Amino acid sequence: MEHNGFTLWFTGLSGAGKSTLSTRVADELRRRGVKVEILDGDEVRTNLSKGLGFSKEDRDTNIKRIGYVCKLLTRNGVVAISAAISPYREARDYNRAQIGRFIEIYVECSIEELTRRDVKGLYKKALAGELPNFTGVSDPYEPPLKPEIAVNSGTESVDQSFRRILDYLEQRGWIPKADVPSGAGCGCKH
Ligand code: ADX
Repeated sequence: MEHNGFTLWFTGLSGAGKSTLSTRVADELRRRGVKVEILDGDEVRTNLSKGLGFSKEDRDTNIKRIGYVCKLLTRNGVVAISAAISPYREARDYNRAQIGRFIEIYVECSIEELTRRDVKGLYKKALAGELPNFTGVSDPYEPPLKPEIAVNSGTESVDQSFRRILDYLEQRGWIPKADVPSGAGCGCKH
C-alpha cells in the first residue's frame, strides 16, 4: 500500500519507556507493510551526534539533527520515529514546524517511579548530586503543552500505551488498519 510518511516524536525522561514503545510501534507498523526508521537517543549519540554532551546547546543540536533526518524520511514516505528525551519545547516545536506531518507522544513517568526502576543507575547518582545536568533532576524537562498523545508508563502497561498509540493512528487514518486475523470472520456477506 502506498503510504504517506510522518514523524512520531516521543519525548519524556530517561527510562520512561520511549525506546520500548517506539520498538513496539515500529514492529507493528512493519507487520502492516509500513516502512519505518527509529532514531533512538542513545544510538544517535554513538554515531550522528557522537561527541555532543548534555548542555542546552548540545541537546538542541542533537534534537535538530534528529529532526532533520526525520524530515528527509517523512517526505519520502517513511514513518520516522524519534525516541530522544528532547527536553526543550522550542526545539521540539521547531522540528514540528519543519516536518509538518508530526505527532508528539509524551511518555510521562514520575521521578519516584523512574528512581525505583533506575535501569542505568543514573537517577541514584543524580539524586546524590553526582550528575550535574541530568534531565528531570538537575536539568530541566519541559513537558509538551498539547501533545497529540500522552501515555503514562507509571500507571499503564506497555500494552495499554501501545494500544492507545495504535488506536490514535488508525482512527485518524495515519496507518492502515490491521488485517482481519486469518480464520476470523469479518462479519460481512461475501
Ligand atoms: S537529549 O536531551 O539530547 O534528547 P538523548 O535522548 O539524546 O538526550 O540522550 C539521553 C540518554 O543519555 C539517557 O537515556 C541517558 O542514558 C544518557 N545520559 C547521560 N547523561 C545524561 C544527562 N545528563 N541527562 C540525560 N540523559 C543523560
